[in-house]
Amino acid sequence: MISPSHLTFVLLAFAINFVYANYANVIDLMPNRGYRLHWKLIDNNQAIQFKVEVKSRGYFALGVSKSGTMSNADLVTGYVHLNGSSILHDRYASGQKMPEIVEKPNWHLVGGSRNETHLTFEFKRNCAIEDPKVDLPISKGITHIIYAIGKVDPHDRSKVKYHGPKSRGSKEIQFLK
Ligand code: HEM
Repeated sequence: MISPSHLTFVLLAFAINFVYANYANVIDLMPNRGYRLHWKLIDNNQAIQFKVEVKSRGYFALGVSKSGTMSNADLVTGYVHLNGSSILHDRYASGQKMPEIVEKPNWHLVGGSRNETHLTFEFKRNCAIEDPKVDLPISKGITHIIYAIGKVDPHDRSKVKYHGPKSRGSKEIQFLK
């Protein structure tokens, strides 16, 4: 027999799980590569939580850029270690070369996994920034995002390889109205 307090707890846990699992927005960034981005505003619209699904067992990348180019972008790369742990690196791209990992991350991992075909990662960041040298804010109006997929699982954990000319892109999204 389930007690009323136990039932209340179960219902509350279910409701919290539903609210946090539910993303209000979704866009297919690269339909042919199965790169789907979900997002929702959290923390009283001060932060955004993202969910990325990509058809790759290598790495995915997502970032904010001033004009949609790779240069001067505030971005993350995500991949799954051979031991099963999910790695999210906050990076800054100063040009068309490997983006360097930043010291103080402004993007934070919520969870990640990999199955036979796909990577799935959830992460969040504040819209405002802490370090203007390596962070770009998400403000009201249009935000330029950039994205990429790497086929190869980065065995050296700090290094990601060139995505190739067909596995990257940019999009304008209005996160905050
Ligand atoms: C080792 C890492 C990387 C290298 C060596 C690299 C290199 C390059 C090169 C040479 C180009 C110009 C040729 C082309 O269009 O493909 C380029 C373009 C581009 N890359 Fe990367 N990239 C890297 C990582 C990333 C990441 C992590 C992202 C996304 C978050 C990204 C997003 C883009 C985008 C959107 C373009 C086209 C716009 C532009 O020319 O800036 N790249 N990259």
